[in-house]
Amino acid sequence: MKVLVQRTSSLQEYEVPRQPSQTVLDVVTYIQRTLDPTLAYRFSCRVGMCGSCAMTVNGVPRWTCRTHVDKVVENEALHIGPLRNLPVIRDLVADMTPFFDKWTRARGRFRGAATRKDDFARVSPASPARRAADAGIECIGCGVCHSSCDVVAWNPGYLGPAALNRAWTLVNDERDTDNRARIAAVAGDAGCHACHTHMSCTERCPKQIAPTAAIAGLKRVAVAAALRGDLGDE
Ligand code: SF4
Ligand code: SF4
Ligand code: FES
Repeated sequence: MKVLVQRTSSLQEYEVPRQPSQTVLDVVTYIQRTLDPTLAYRFSCRVGMCGSCAMTVNGVPRWTCRTHVDKVVENEALHIGPLRNLPVIRDLVADMTPFFDKWTRARGRFRGAATRKDDFARVSPASPARRAADAGIECIGCGVCHSSCDVVAWNPGYLGPAALNRAWTLVNDERDTDNRARIAAVAGDAGCHACHTHMSCTERCPKQIAPTAAIAGLKRVAVAAALRGDLGDE
């Protein structure tokens, strides 16, 4: 199989033997260990938990450790590059700093009021808010959605689907105390209202999360907060 890899300064071609159940990460690992030890890439868990192995494969952002070559190979060839919409550190390694900075801007950090003296919170698994939070909580921070989003490409300041999905899980967490500031943070020009509902994030998320639904929820609470005059400053 012919494998074209987008290196930092050039496109390089390698010949990689096909194997049963071979993943795209197996292909990159074969190249680095057997053909070219200078190739830089990133992975950790190899089982779809850590979110570190995402790359662009034949034009589509994917988690590479769970993407089988059989599913994505075209004309016995693969074209592998770093995630789009992020700076590149080297070769296939995208710099995730702008991605996680957006989580900070969206106030994607839990802030509770309970102390260790309090009993633990009991949240009904059946409550609508708990269900909404559960729908987005399994995000592994892989950046596939952010890399798939055309609005991020046009407007790099846009908070993007992952940070907004994280904000929505916290908006629905009844233990959290930071929602007023969080809703103000996601209601700005670069927040939820910038989403054009293209759905690429939801179609490509490997964890079957629907950031588009989370963003729709944020739009509803942001509009309600605006009508109450309760948006304040970001
Ligand atoms: S639905 Fe919104 S966040 Fe998701 S890819 Fe489209 S524009 Fe981006
Ligand atoms: S929402 Fe899905 S695609 Fe986006 S970072 Fe989380 S797991 Fe990855
Ligand atoms: S290596 Fe951890 S998700 Fe792919």
